[in-house]
Amino acid sequence: MVKIAISGKGGVGKTTLAAMLAYLFAKDGYSVTAIDCDSSINLPTVLGIKEDVRPMSELGEVIEERVKGPLGTFKYNPKVDDIFEEYSKKNEFGIRVLALGTIEKGGEGCFCPQNAFLRAILRHAIFREKDVLLLDMEAGIEHLGRGTAKGVDLLIAVVEPGMRSVETLKRIEKLAADLGIRKIGVVINKFIESESTKKLLERIDKEILGKIPYNQCFIRADLENIPPYKLECEIGAFEEIKNRIVELIGGV
Ligand SMILES: Nc1ncnc2c1ncn2[C@@H]1O[C@H](COP(=O)(O)OP(=O)(O)OP(=O)(O)O)[C@@H](O)[C@H]1O
Ligand SMILES: [Mg+2]
Repeated sequence: MVKIAISGKGGVGKTTLAAMLAYLFAKDGYSVTAIDCDSSINLPTVLGIKEDVRPMSELGEVIEERVKGPLGTFKYNPKVDDIFEEYSKKNEFGIRVLALGTIEKGGEGCFCPQNAFLRAILRHAIFREKDVLLLDMEAGIEHLGRGTAKGVDLLIAVVEPGMRSVETLKRIEKLAADLGIRKIGVVINKFIESESTKKLLERIDKEILGKIPYNQCFIRADLENIPPYKLECEIGAFEEIKNRIVELIGGV
């Protein structure tokens, strides 16, 4: 079992990468759960799910009721299995998708009910050896400070060639280290070969898991609302990234 969080600046391709990896892992026989941690939910659509996936934030007070123990304590293991079933949808490849919605995730180390509930959901999502959990994080890096990605095995930072992305990467590295995430990999998306992109890449000192070229195919998939794997957009590049992840994690 492996937990992977996908992070990066807005619009760099986090959701695209999450969907492609989910598809490729599922194709290899892994049982895949993907959680959309962005308050504007779009991962289910990119994975070809037509029905609405209800955000878990809808649960509101139910969360508190489930999590609260006697005398103001929190239960370590609140009941979440029914919610997991009700709030997740499977796509045609058996990929299970959940959405957080705008859950107040609280600060790091915060023992608020939402955090306890979220951790219980994450624990519940992972129980077999050949399971992969993918977290499509919200844009920016603030969420890292809130601890949603705590306990992930690998944090993938998606960057577009550009100084702003590389600077964001430095901040991601620092926050990830604070959270105790040891493995960080970088995916360069919307890559266009040039002298200046080459120089920029030299400034990245983390492992580059792969480069995905800029390709109109993704724009077409988005416009026509087709999952990008159905159009096989740069599928070879994603396959290599997936293989590298498996190597890095030491087999899943
Ligand atoms: N390699 C690529 N080449 C061209 N366009 C791409 C590429 N990858 C993604 N895109 C397009 O860029 C847009 C943003 O992608 P995506 O939604 O995956 O980014 P995101 O990081 O999840 O964004 P957000 O921060 O809004 O959640 C989409 O229209 C997508 O089709
Ligand atoms: Mg997204």
